[in-house]
Amino acid sequence: MEFSGKTVAVTGAGSGIGYATAEAAARLGARIIAFDRDERALNAMRIAFERNNWRLMAVVVDIGDESSIERAIDIDMASVKSVDLLVNSAGIVSRGQFEATTAEEWRRVLGVNLSGSFFCLQKMVPRLKAGVGRAVVNVASLAAKRVSYTGGVSYTAAKAGLLGLTRHAAFELAGVGIRVNAVCPGPVWTAMTQQNVSDEERKKVASMVPLGEWLSPNDIAQAILFLGSPAARMITGTTLDIDGGLSLVTGASPTAYQQARE
Ligand SMILES: NC(=O)c1ccc[n+]([C@@H]2O[C@H](COP(=O)([O-])OP(=O)(O)OC[C@H]3O[C@@H](n4cnc5c(N)ncnc54)[C@H](O)[C@@H]3O)[C@@H](O)[C@H]2O)c1
Repeated sequence: MEFSGKTVAVTGAGSGIGYATAEAAARLGARIIAFDRDERALNAMRIAFERNNWRLMAVVVDIGDESSIERAIDIDMASVKSVDLLVNSAGIVSRGQFEATTAEEWRRVLGVNLSGSFFCLQKMVPRLKAGVGRAVVNVASLAAKRVSYTGGVSYTAAKAGLLGLTRHAAFELAGVGIRVNAVCPGPVWTAMTQQNVSDEERKKVASMVPLGEWLSPNDIAQAILFLGSPAARMITGTTLDIDGGLSLVTGASPTAYQQARE
């Protein structure tokens, strides 16, 4: 995959899937625009990138706040005239059960995971038009098609909405040559899951995955870069599941399936 001389903007770049994507693209020669609300994470990223001579512009932004996105793109990014690939990876989970989900929690989760992705993409369109890559990858989740394991109803609804946003944006923006796709990761071992999953649950989840383990952030990053590269030039409006085969499971774990046949 060729990213030399390209500009790649990544939201939620301070950690997990966003960080792995920024790092993988930088290794391939891209300049990275890193968006995150976590200033400490961005500072650590700056140090790591400088050590490797990778180009980075780090922008503190709250993806759940439209005016903050506007400021980041219009003011902080004013010197960046074109973007080749936008990756919307910023996301949060909620744990609340259905009846206990508060209006505040519902709005917060949809605000970051769904509305934030919409506003980032909408405001980035002029920069994407000015670029040559003209690609967007939204980080949805297996939860978009099923039910979230770590998150609550607001997370599932937001990720399902993100697939609708992906399809519609792909349809309209095809006219200006911008491709929009989504990835649906299964369980990925990142800060998000580490905070919400016990050691016992971690082992149980791994045993449910046909390929036998949690995914790494880099497993998702590689798929994102494929969809964002010219190798995928005729792919738009689609969803790529990266889940070690988890969506194939019908209810029984692979081990239980084998045991029933012994
Ligand atoms: N980890 C998984 O198992 C998994 C599975 C499916 C989908 N996803 C999705 O992948 C994406 C990345 O998750 P991750 O696992 O890498 O999590 P993570 O917690 O490691 O990284 C998320 C990053 O987003 C940033 N962020 C959160 N809210 C923000 C906001 N309002 N403004 C700006 N930045 C914000 C955080 O500071 C953090 O750096 C999310 O959209 C998540 O829903 C994760």
